[in-house]
Amino acid sequence: MAAPARSPLEAWLRYFDDLGLGPFYVGRAAMELPAAGRPGALRAPDAAAAPVARLEQQARPSPVAAPVARAPRPQEAILPVVPSLFESAVRAGLEGDTLERIREDIGDCKRCRLCEGRNTIVFGDGNSQAQLVFVGEGPGHDEDVQGLPFVGRAGKLLTQMIEAMGLRRQDVYICNIVKCRPPGNRQPERDEVATCSPFLDRQLAAIGPKVIVCLGGVAAQTLLGTNKAISQFRGQWFEFRGAKLMATYHPAFLLRTPSAKSEVWTDLKKVMGVLGLKPPKPKPRSA
Ligand code: URA
Repeated sequence: MAAPARSPLEAWLRYFDDLGLGPFYVGRAAMELPAAGRPGALRAPDAAAAPVARLEQQARPSPVAAPVARAPRPQEAILPVVPSLFESAVRAGLEGDTLERIREDIGDCKRCRLCEGRNTIVFGDGNSQAQLVFVGEGPGHDEDVQGLPFVGRAGKLLTQMIEAMGLRRQDVYICNIVKCRPPGNRQPERDEVATCSPFLDRQLAAIGPKVIVCLGGVAAQTLLGTNKAISQFRGQWFEFRGAKLMATYHPAFLLRTPSAKSEVWTDLKKVMGVLGLKPPKPKPRSA
């Protein structure tokens, strides 16, 4: 196939490969692929679910760009299919996917350099059928030690925010863009995000939440495929693969900037509205 026509097809194949969809695998030796736009990163607004904002989509870090070292698979096949069929194949492939299977597929991950400094893979935690998923940036020190997301100071604040919404931590699902702690708590790099993203995508698809809340710029920019500052679009609704997605400030930012808590509460009240939640009644003070 001529190179220009071949590239999008190869991008899809790599994407399926990273998702662990073996039957759609094509030998990578045949591929010399530039970074490509991620399929379905930011969908067209859903007319039925107003108001949904539009963001000018930037190049979302693509899993196809990640140099993933892996053993060759037996009986590699090249399927003569067109990209539109790939999409339905992905959907079929992801049907019945479970968090347990995704965790198994991650294994003792060495796909990117973050494995070098990590103590534990922080997969995610909470209700596997949650209506509400929070996505943070990446584990910090406490999370790396305990193997659970958002258990440090910022996590305690997140728990308070969840409870203020009338929910318990175990009612929601909490996860991160990357599953291993970046050294010194730096932001995850583009290729690290790209390598880890397919697993987050599968988690979100397996849970099928009604609402996804991105905590902080990294989570929001990654899922929405934008470089815009979170301050420009926090509190607005976006459509993300059948779910409603909103970005709000990260709890760690709120620890440094408590004055922003009111904006986050405004955002969370919108989430509560969509989920039909009422804030819990304040407990009567004992005399
Ligand atoms: N910050 C994050 O983004 N995620 C965590 O799990 C903890 C802190």
